[in-house]
Amino acid sequence: MADPSLSQAMEDTAADVELLLDRLLPMPEGPEGRVAEAMRYATLGGGKRFRPYLACEAAKLFTVSEDRALRTAAAIECVHTYSLVHDDLPCMDDDDLRRGRPSTHKAFDEATAVLAGDALLTFAFEILGDADTHDDYRVRCDLVLGLAKAVGTHGMVGGQMIDMASEGTILDIGALTRLQQLKTGALIAFACESGAILGKASKDAHHALHAYAHDLGLAYQIIDDLLDEEGDSATLGKTAGKDRAKGKATFATILGPERAREQAGMLADQAIQHLDLFDEKADSLRSATSFVINRSA
Ligand code: IPE
Ligand code: IPE
Ligand code: MG
Ligand code: MG
Ligand code: MG
Repeated sequence: MADPSLSQAMEDTAADVELLLDRLLPMPEGPEGRVAEAMRYATLGGGKRFRPYLACEAAKLFTVSEDRALRTAAAIECVHTYSLVHDDLPCMDDDDLRRGRPSTHKAFDEATAVLAGDALLTFAFEILGDADTHDDYRVRCDLVLGLAKAVGTHGMVGGQMIDMASEGTILDIGALTRLQQLKTGALIAFACESGAILGKASKDAHHALHAYAHDLGLAYQIIDDLLDEEGDSATLGKTAGKDRAKGKATFATILGPERAREQAGMLADQAIQHLDLFDEKADSLRSATSFVINRSA
């Protein structure tokens, strides 16, 4: 990452979210304790926490209190972590390494990993539905609705369905773009929009953030695909070369690395243009695009 102030800001948010998740996540207790242990294993101690960073920076645009932004960010990270736990299962990408450690189904077992994912998903809605996240029930309702839509049938889960169903087939760029927007873009878009929801922002501000996140999310997945193709497992903390081995259609395999990188750069530039509505308060979101493009993990 080139910009030291950006990397410091991301680390600070990551540390705050880690502390909050540690406090909020259930402790292993009683005969069902194993599922709480697996939830904590999957969620704590790793990950770039990029979605929480976006949620917190977007919330700052509307002077939302840090507590509210962090709770929302923690809920989003729970959903993201659930998606990774399930994505790694043998019936999906069958990946034994995640965030530099054995995947949850390896550290525990498949049934526990499925249940830990289920519980992380529902726990996210418990966090958002709690009055500590916002005292206005309409705001809580909008957060719950927004997250549900982003990760449901026509969001992340839909994208994962297309991803699985397309293994070994050739997708055209339009179909691939839609796949990636659903599986990765939708949650990233919600992370940005959550700031606008918490801050009861204007429609224009809301739309601008959505448009920014739409391009950013796609760029994020293109780089993920490129890193799978070109990176190494030790740096990534997950198994490199999986997409090609599994016959996944990705931007890297379809366009080739150079054009894929070019495409990601173009999307990042486009994302920045959508922030014209905001003053220098949005500079951290502007520079987040350089993290997306230059990251090595
Ligand atoms: C990996 O996401 C899966 C995608 C949707 C691209 P991240 O690269 O953000 O994973 P962590 O949270 O940092 O481990
Ligand atoms: C996963 O995409 C997207 C999710 C919704 C979890 P990938 O399968 O490319 O994620 P990685 O590369 O395993 O992290
Ligand atoms: Mg996958
Ligand atoms: Mg995967
Ligand atoms: Mg990947």
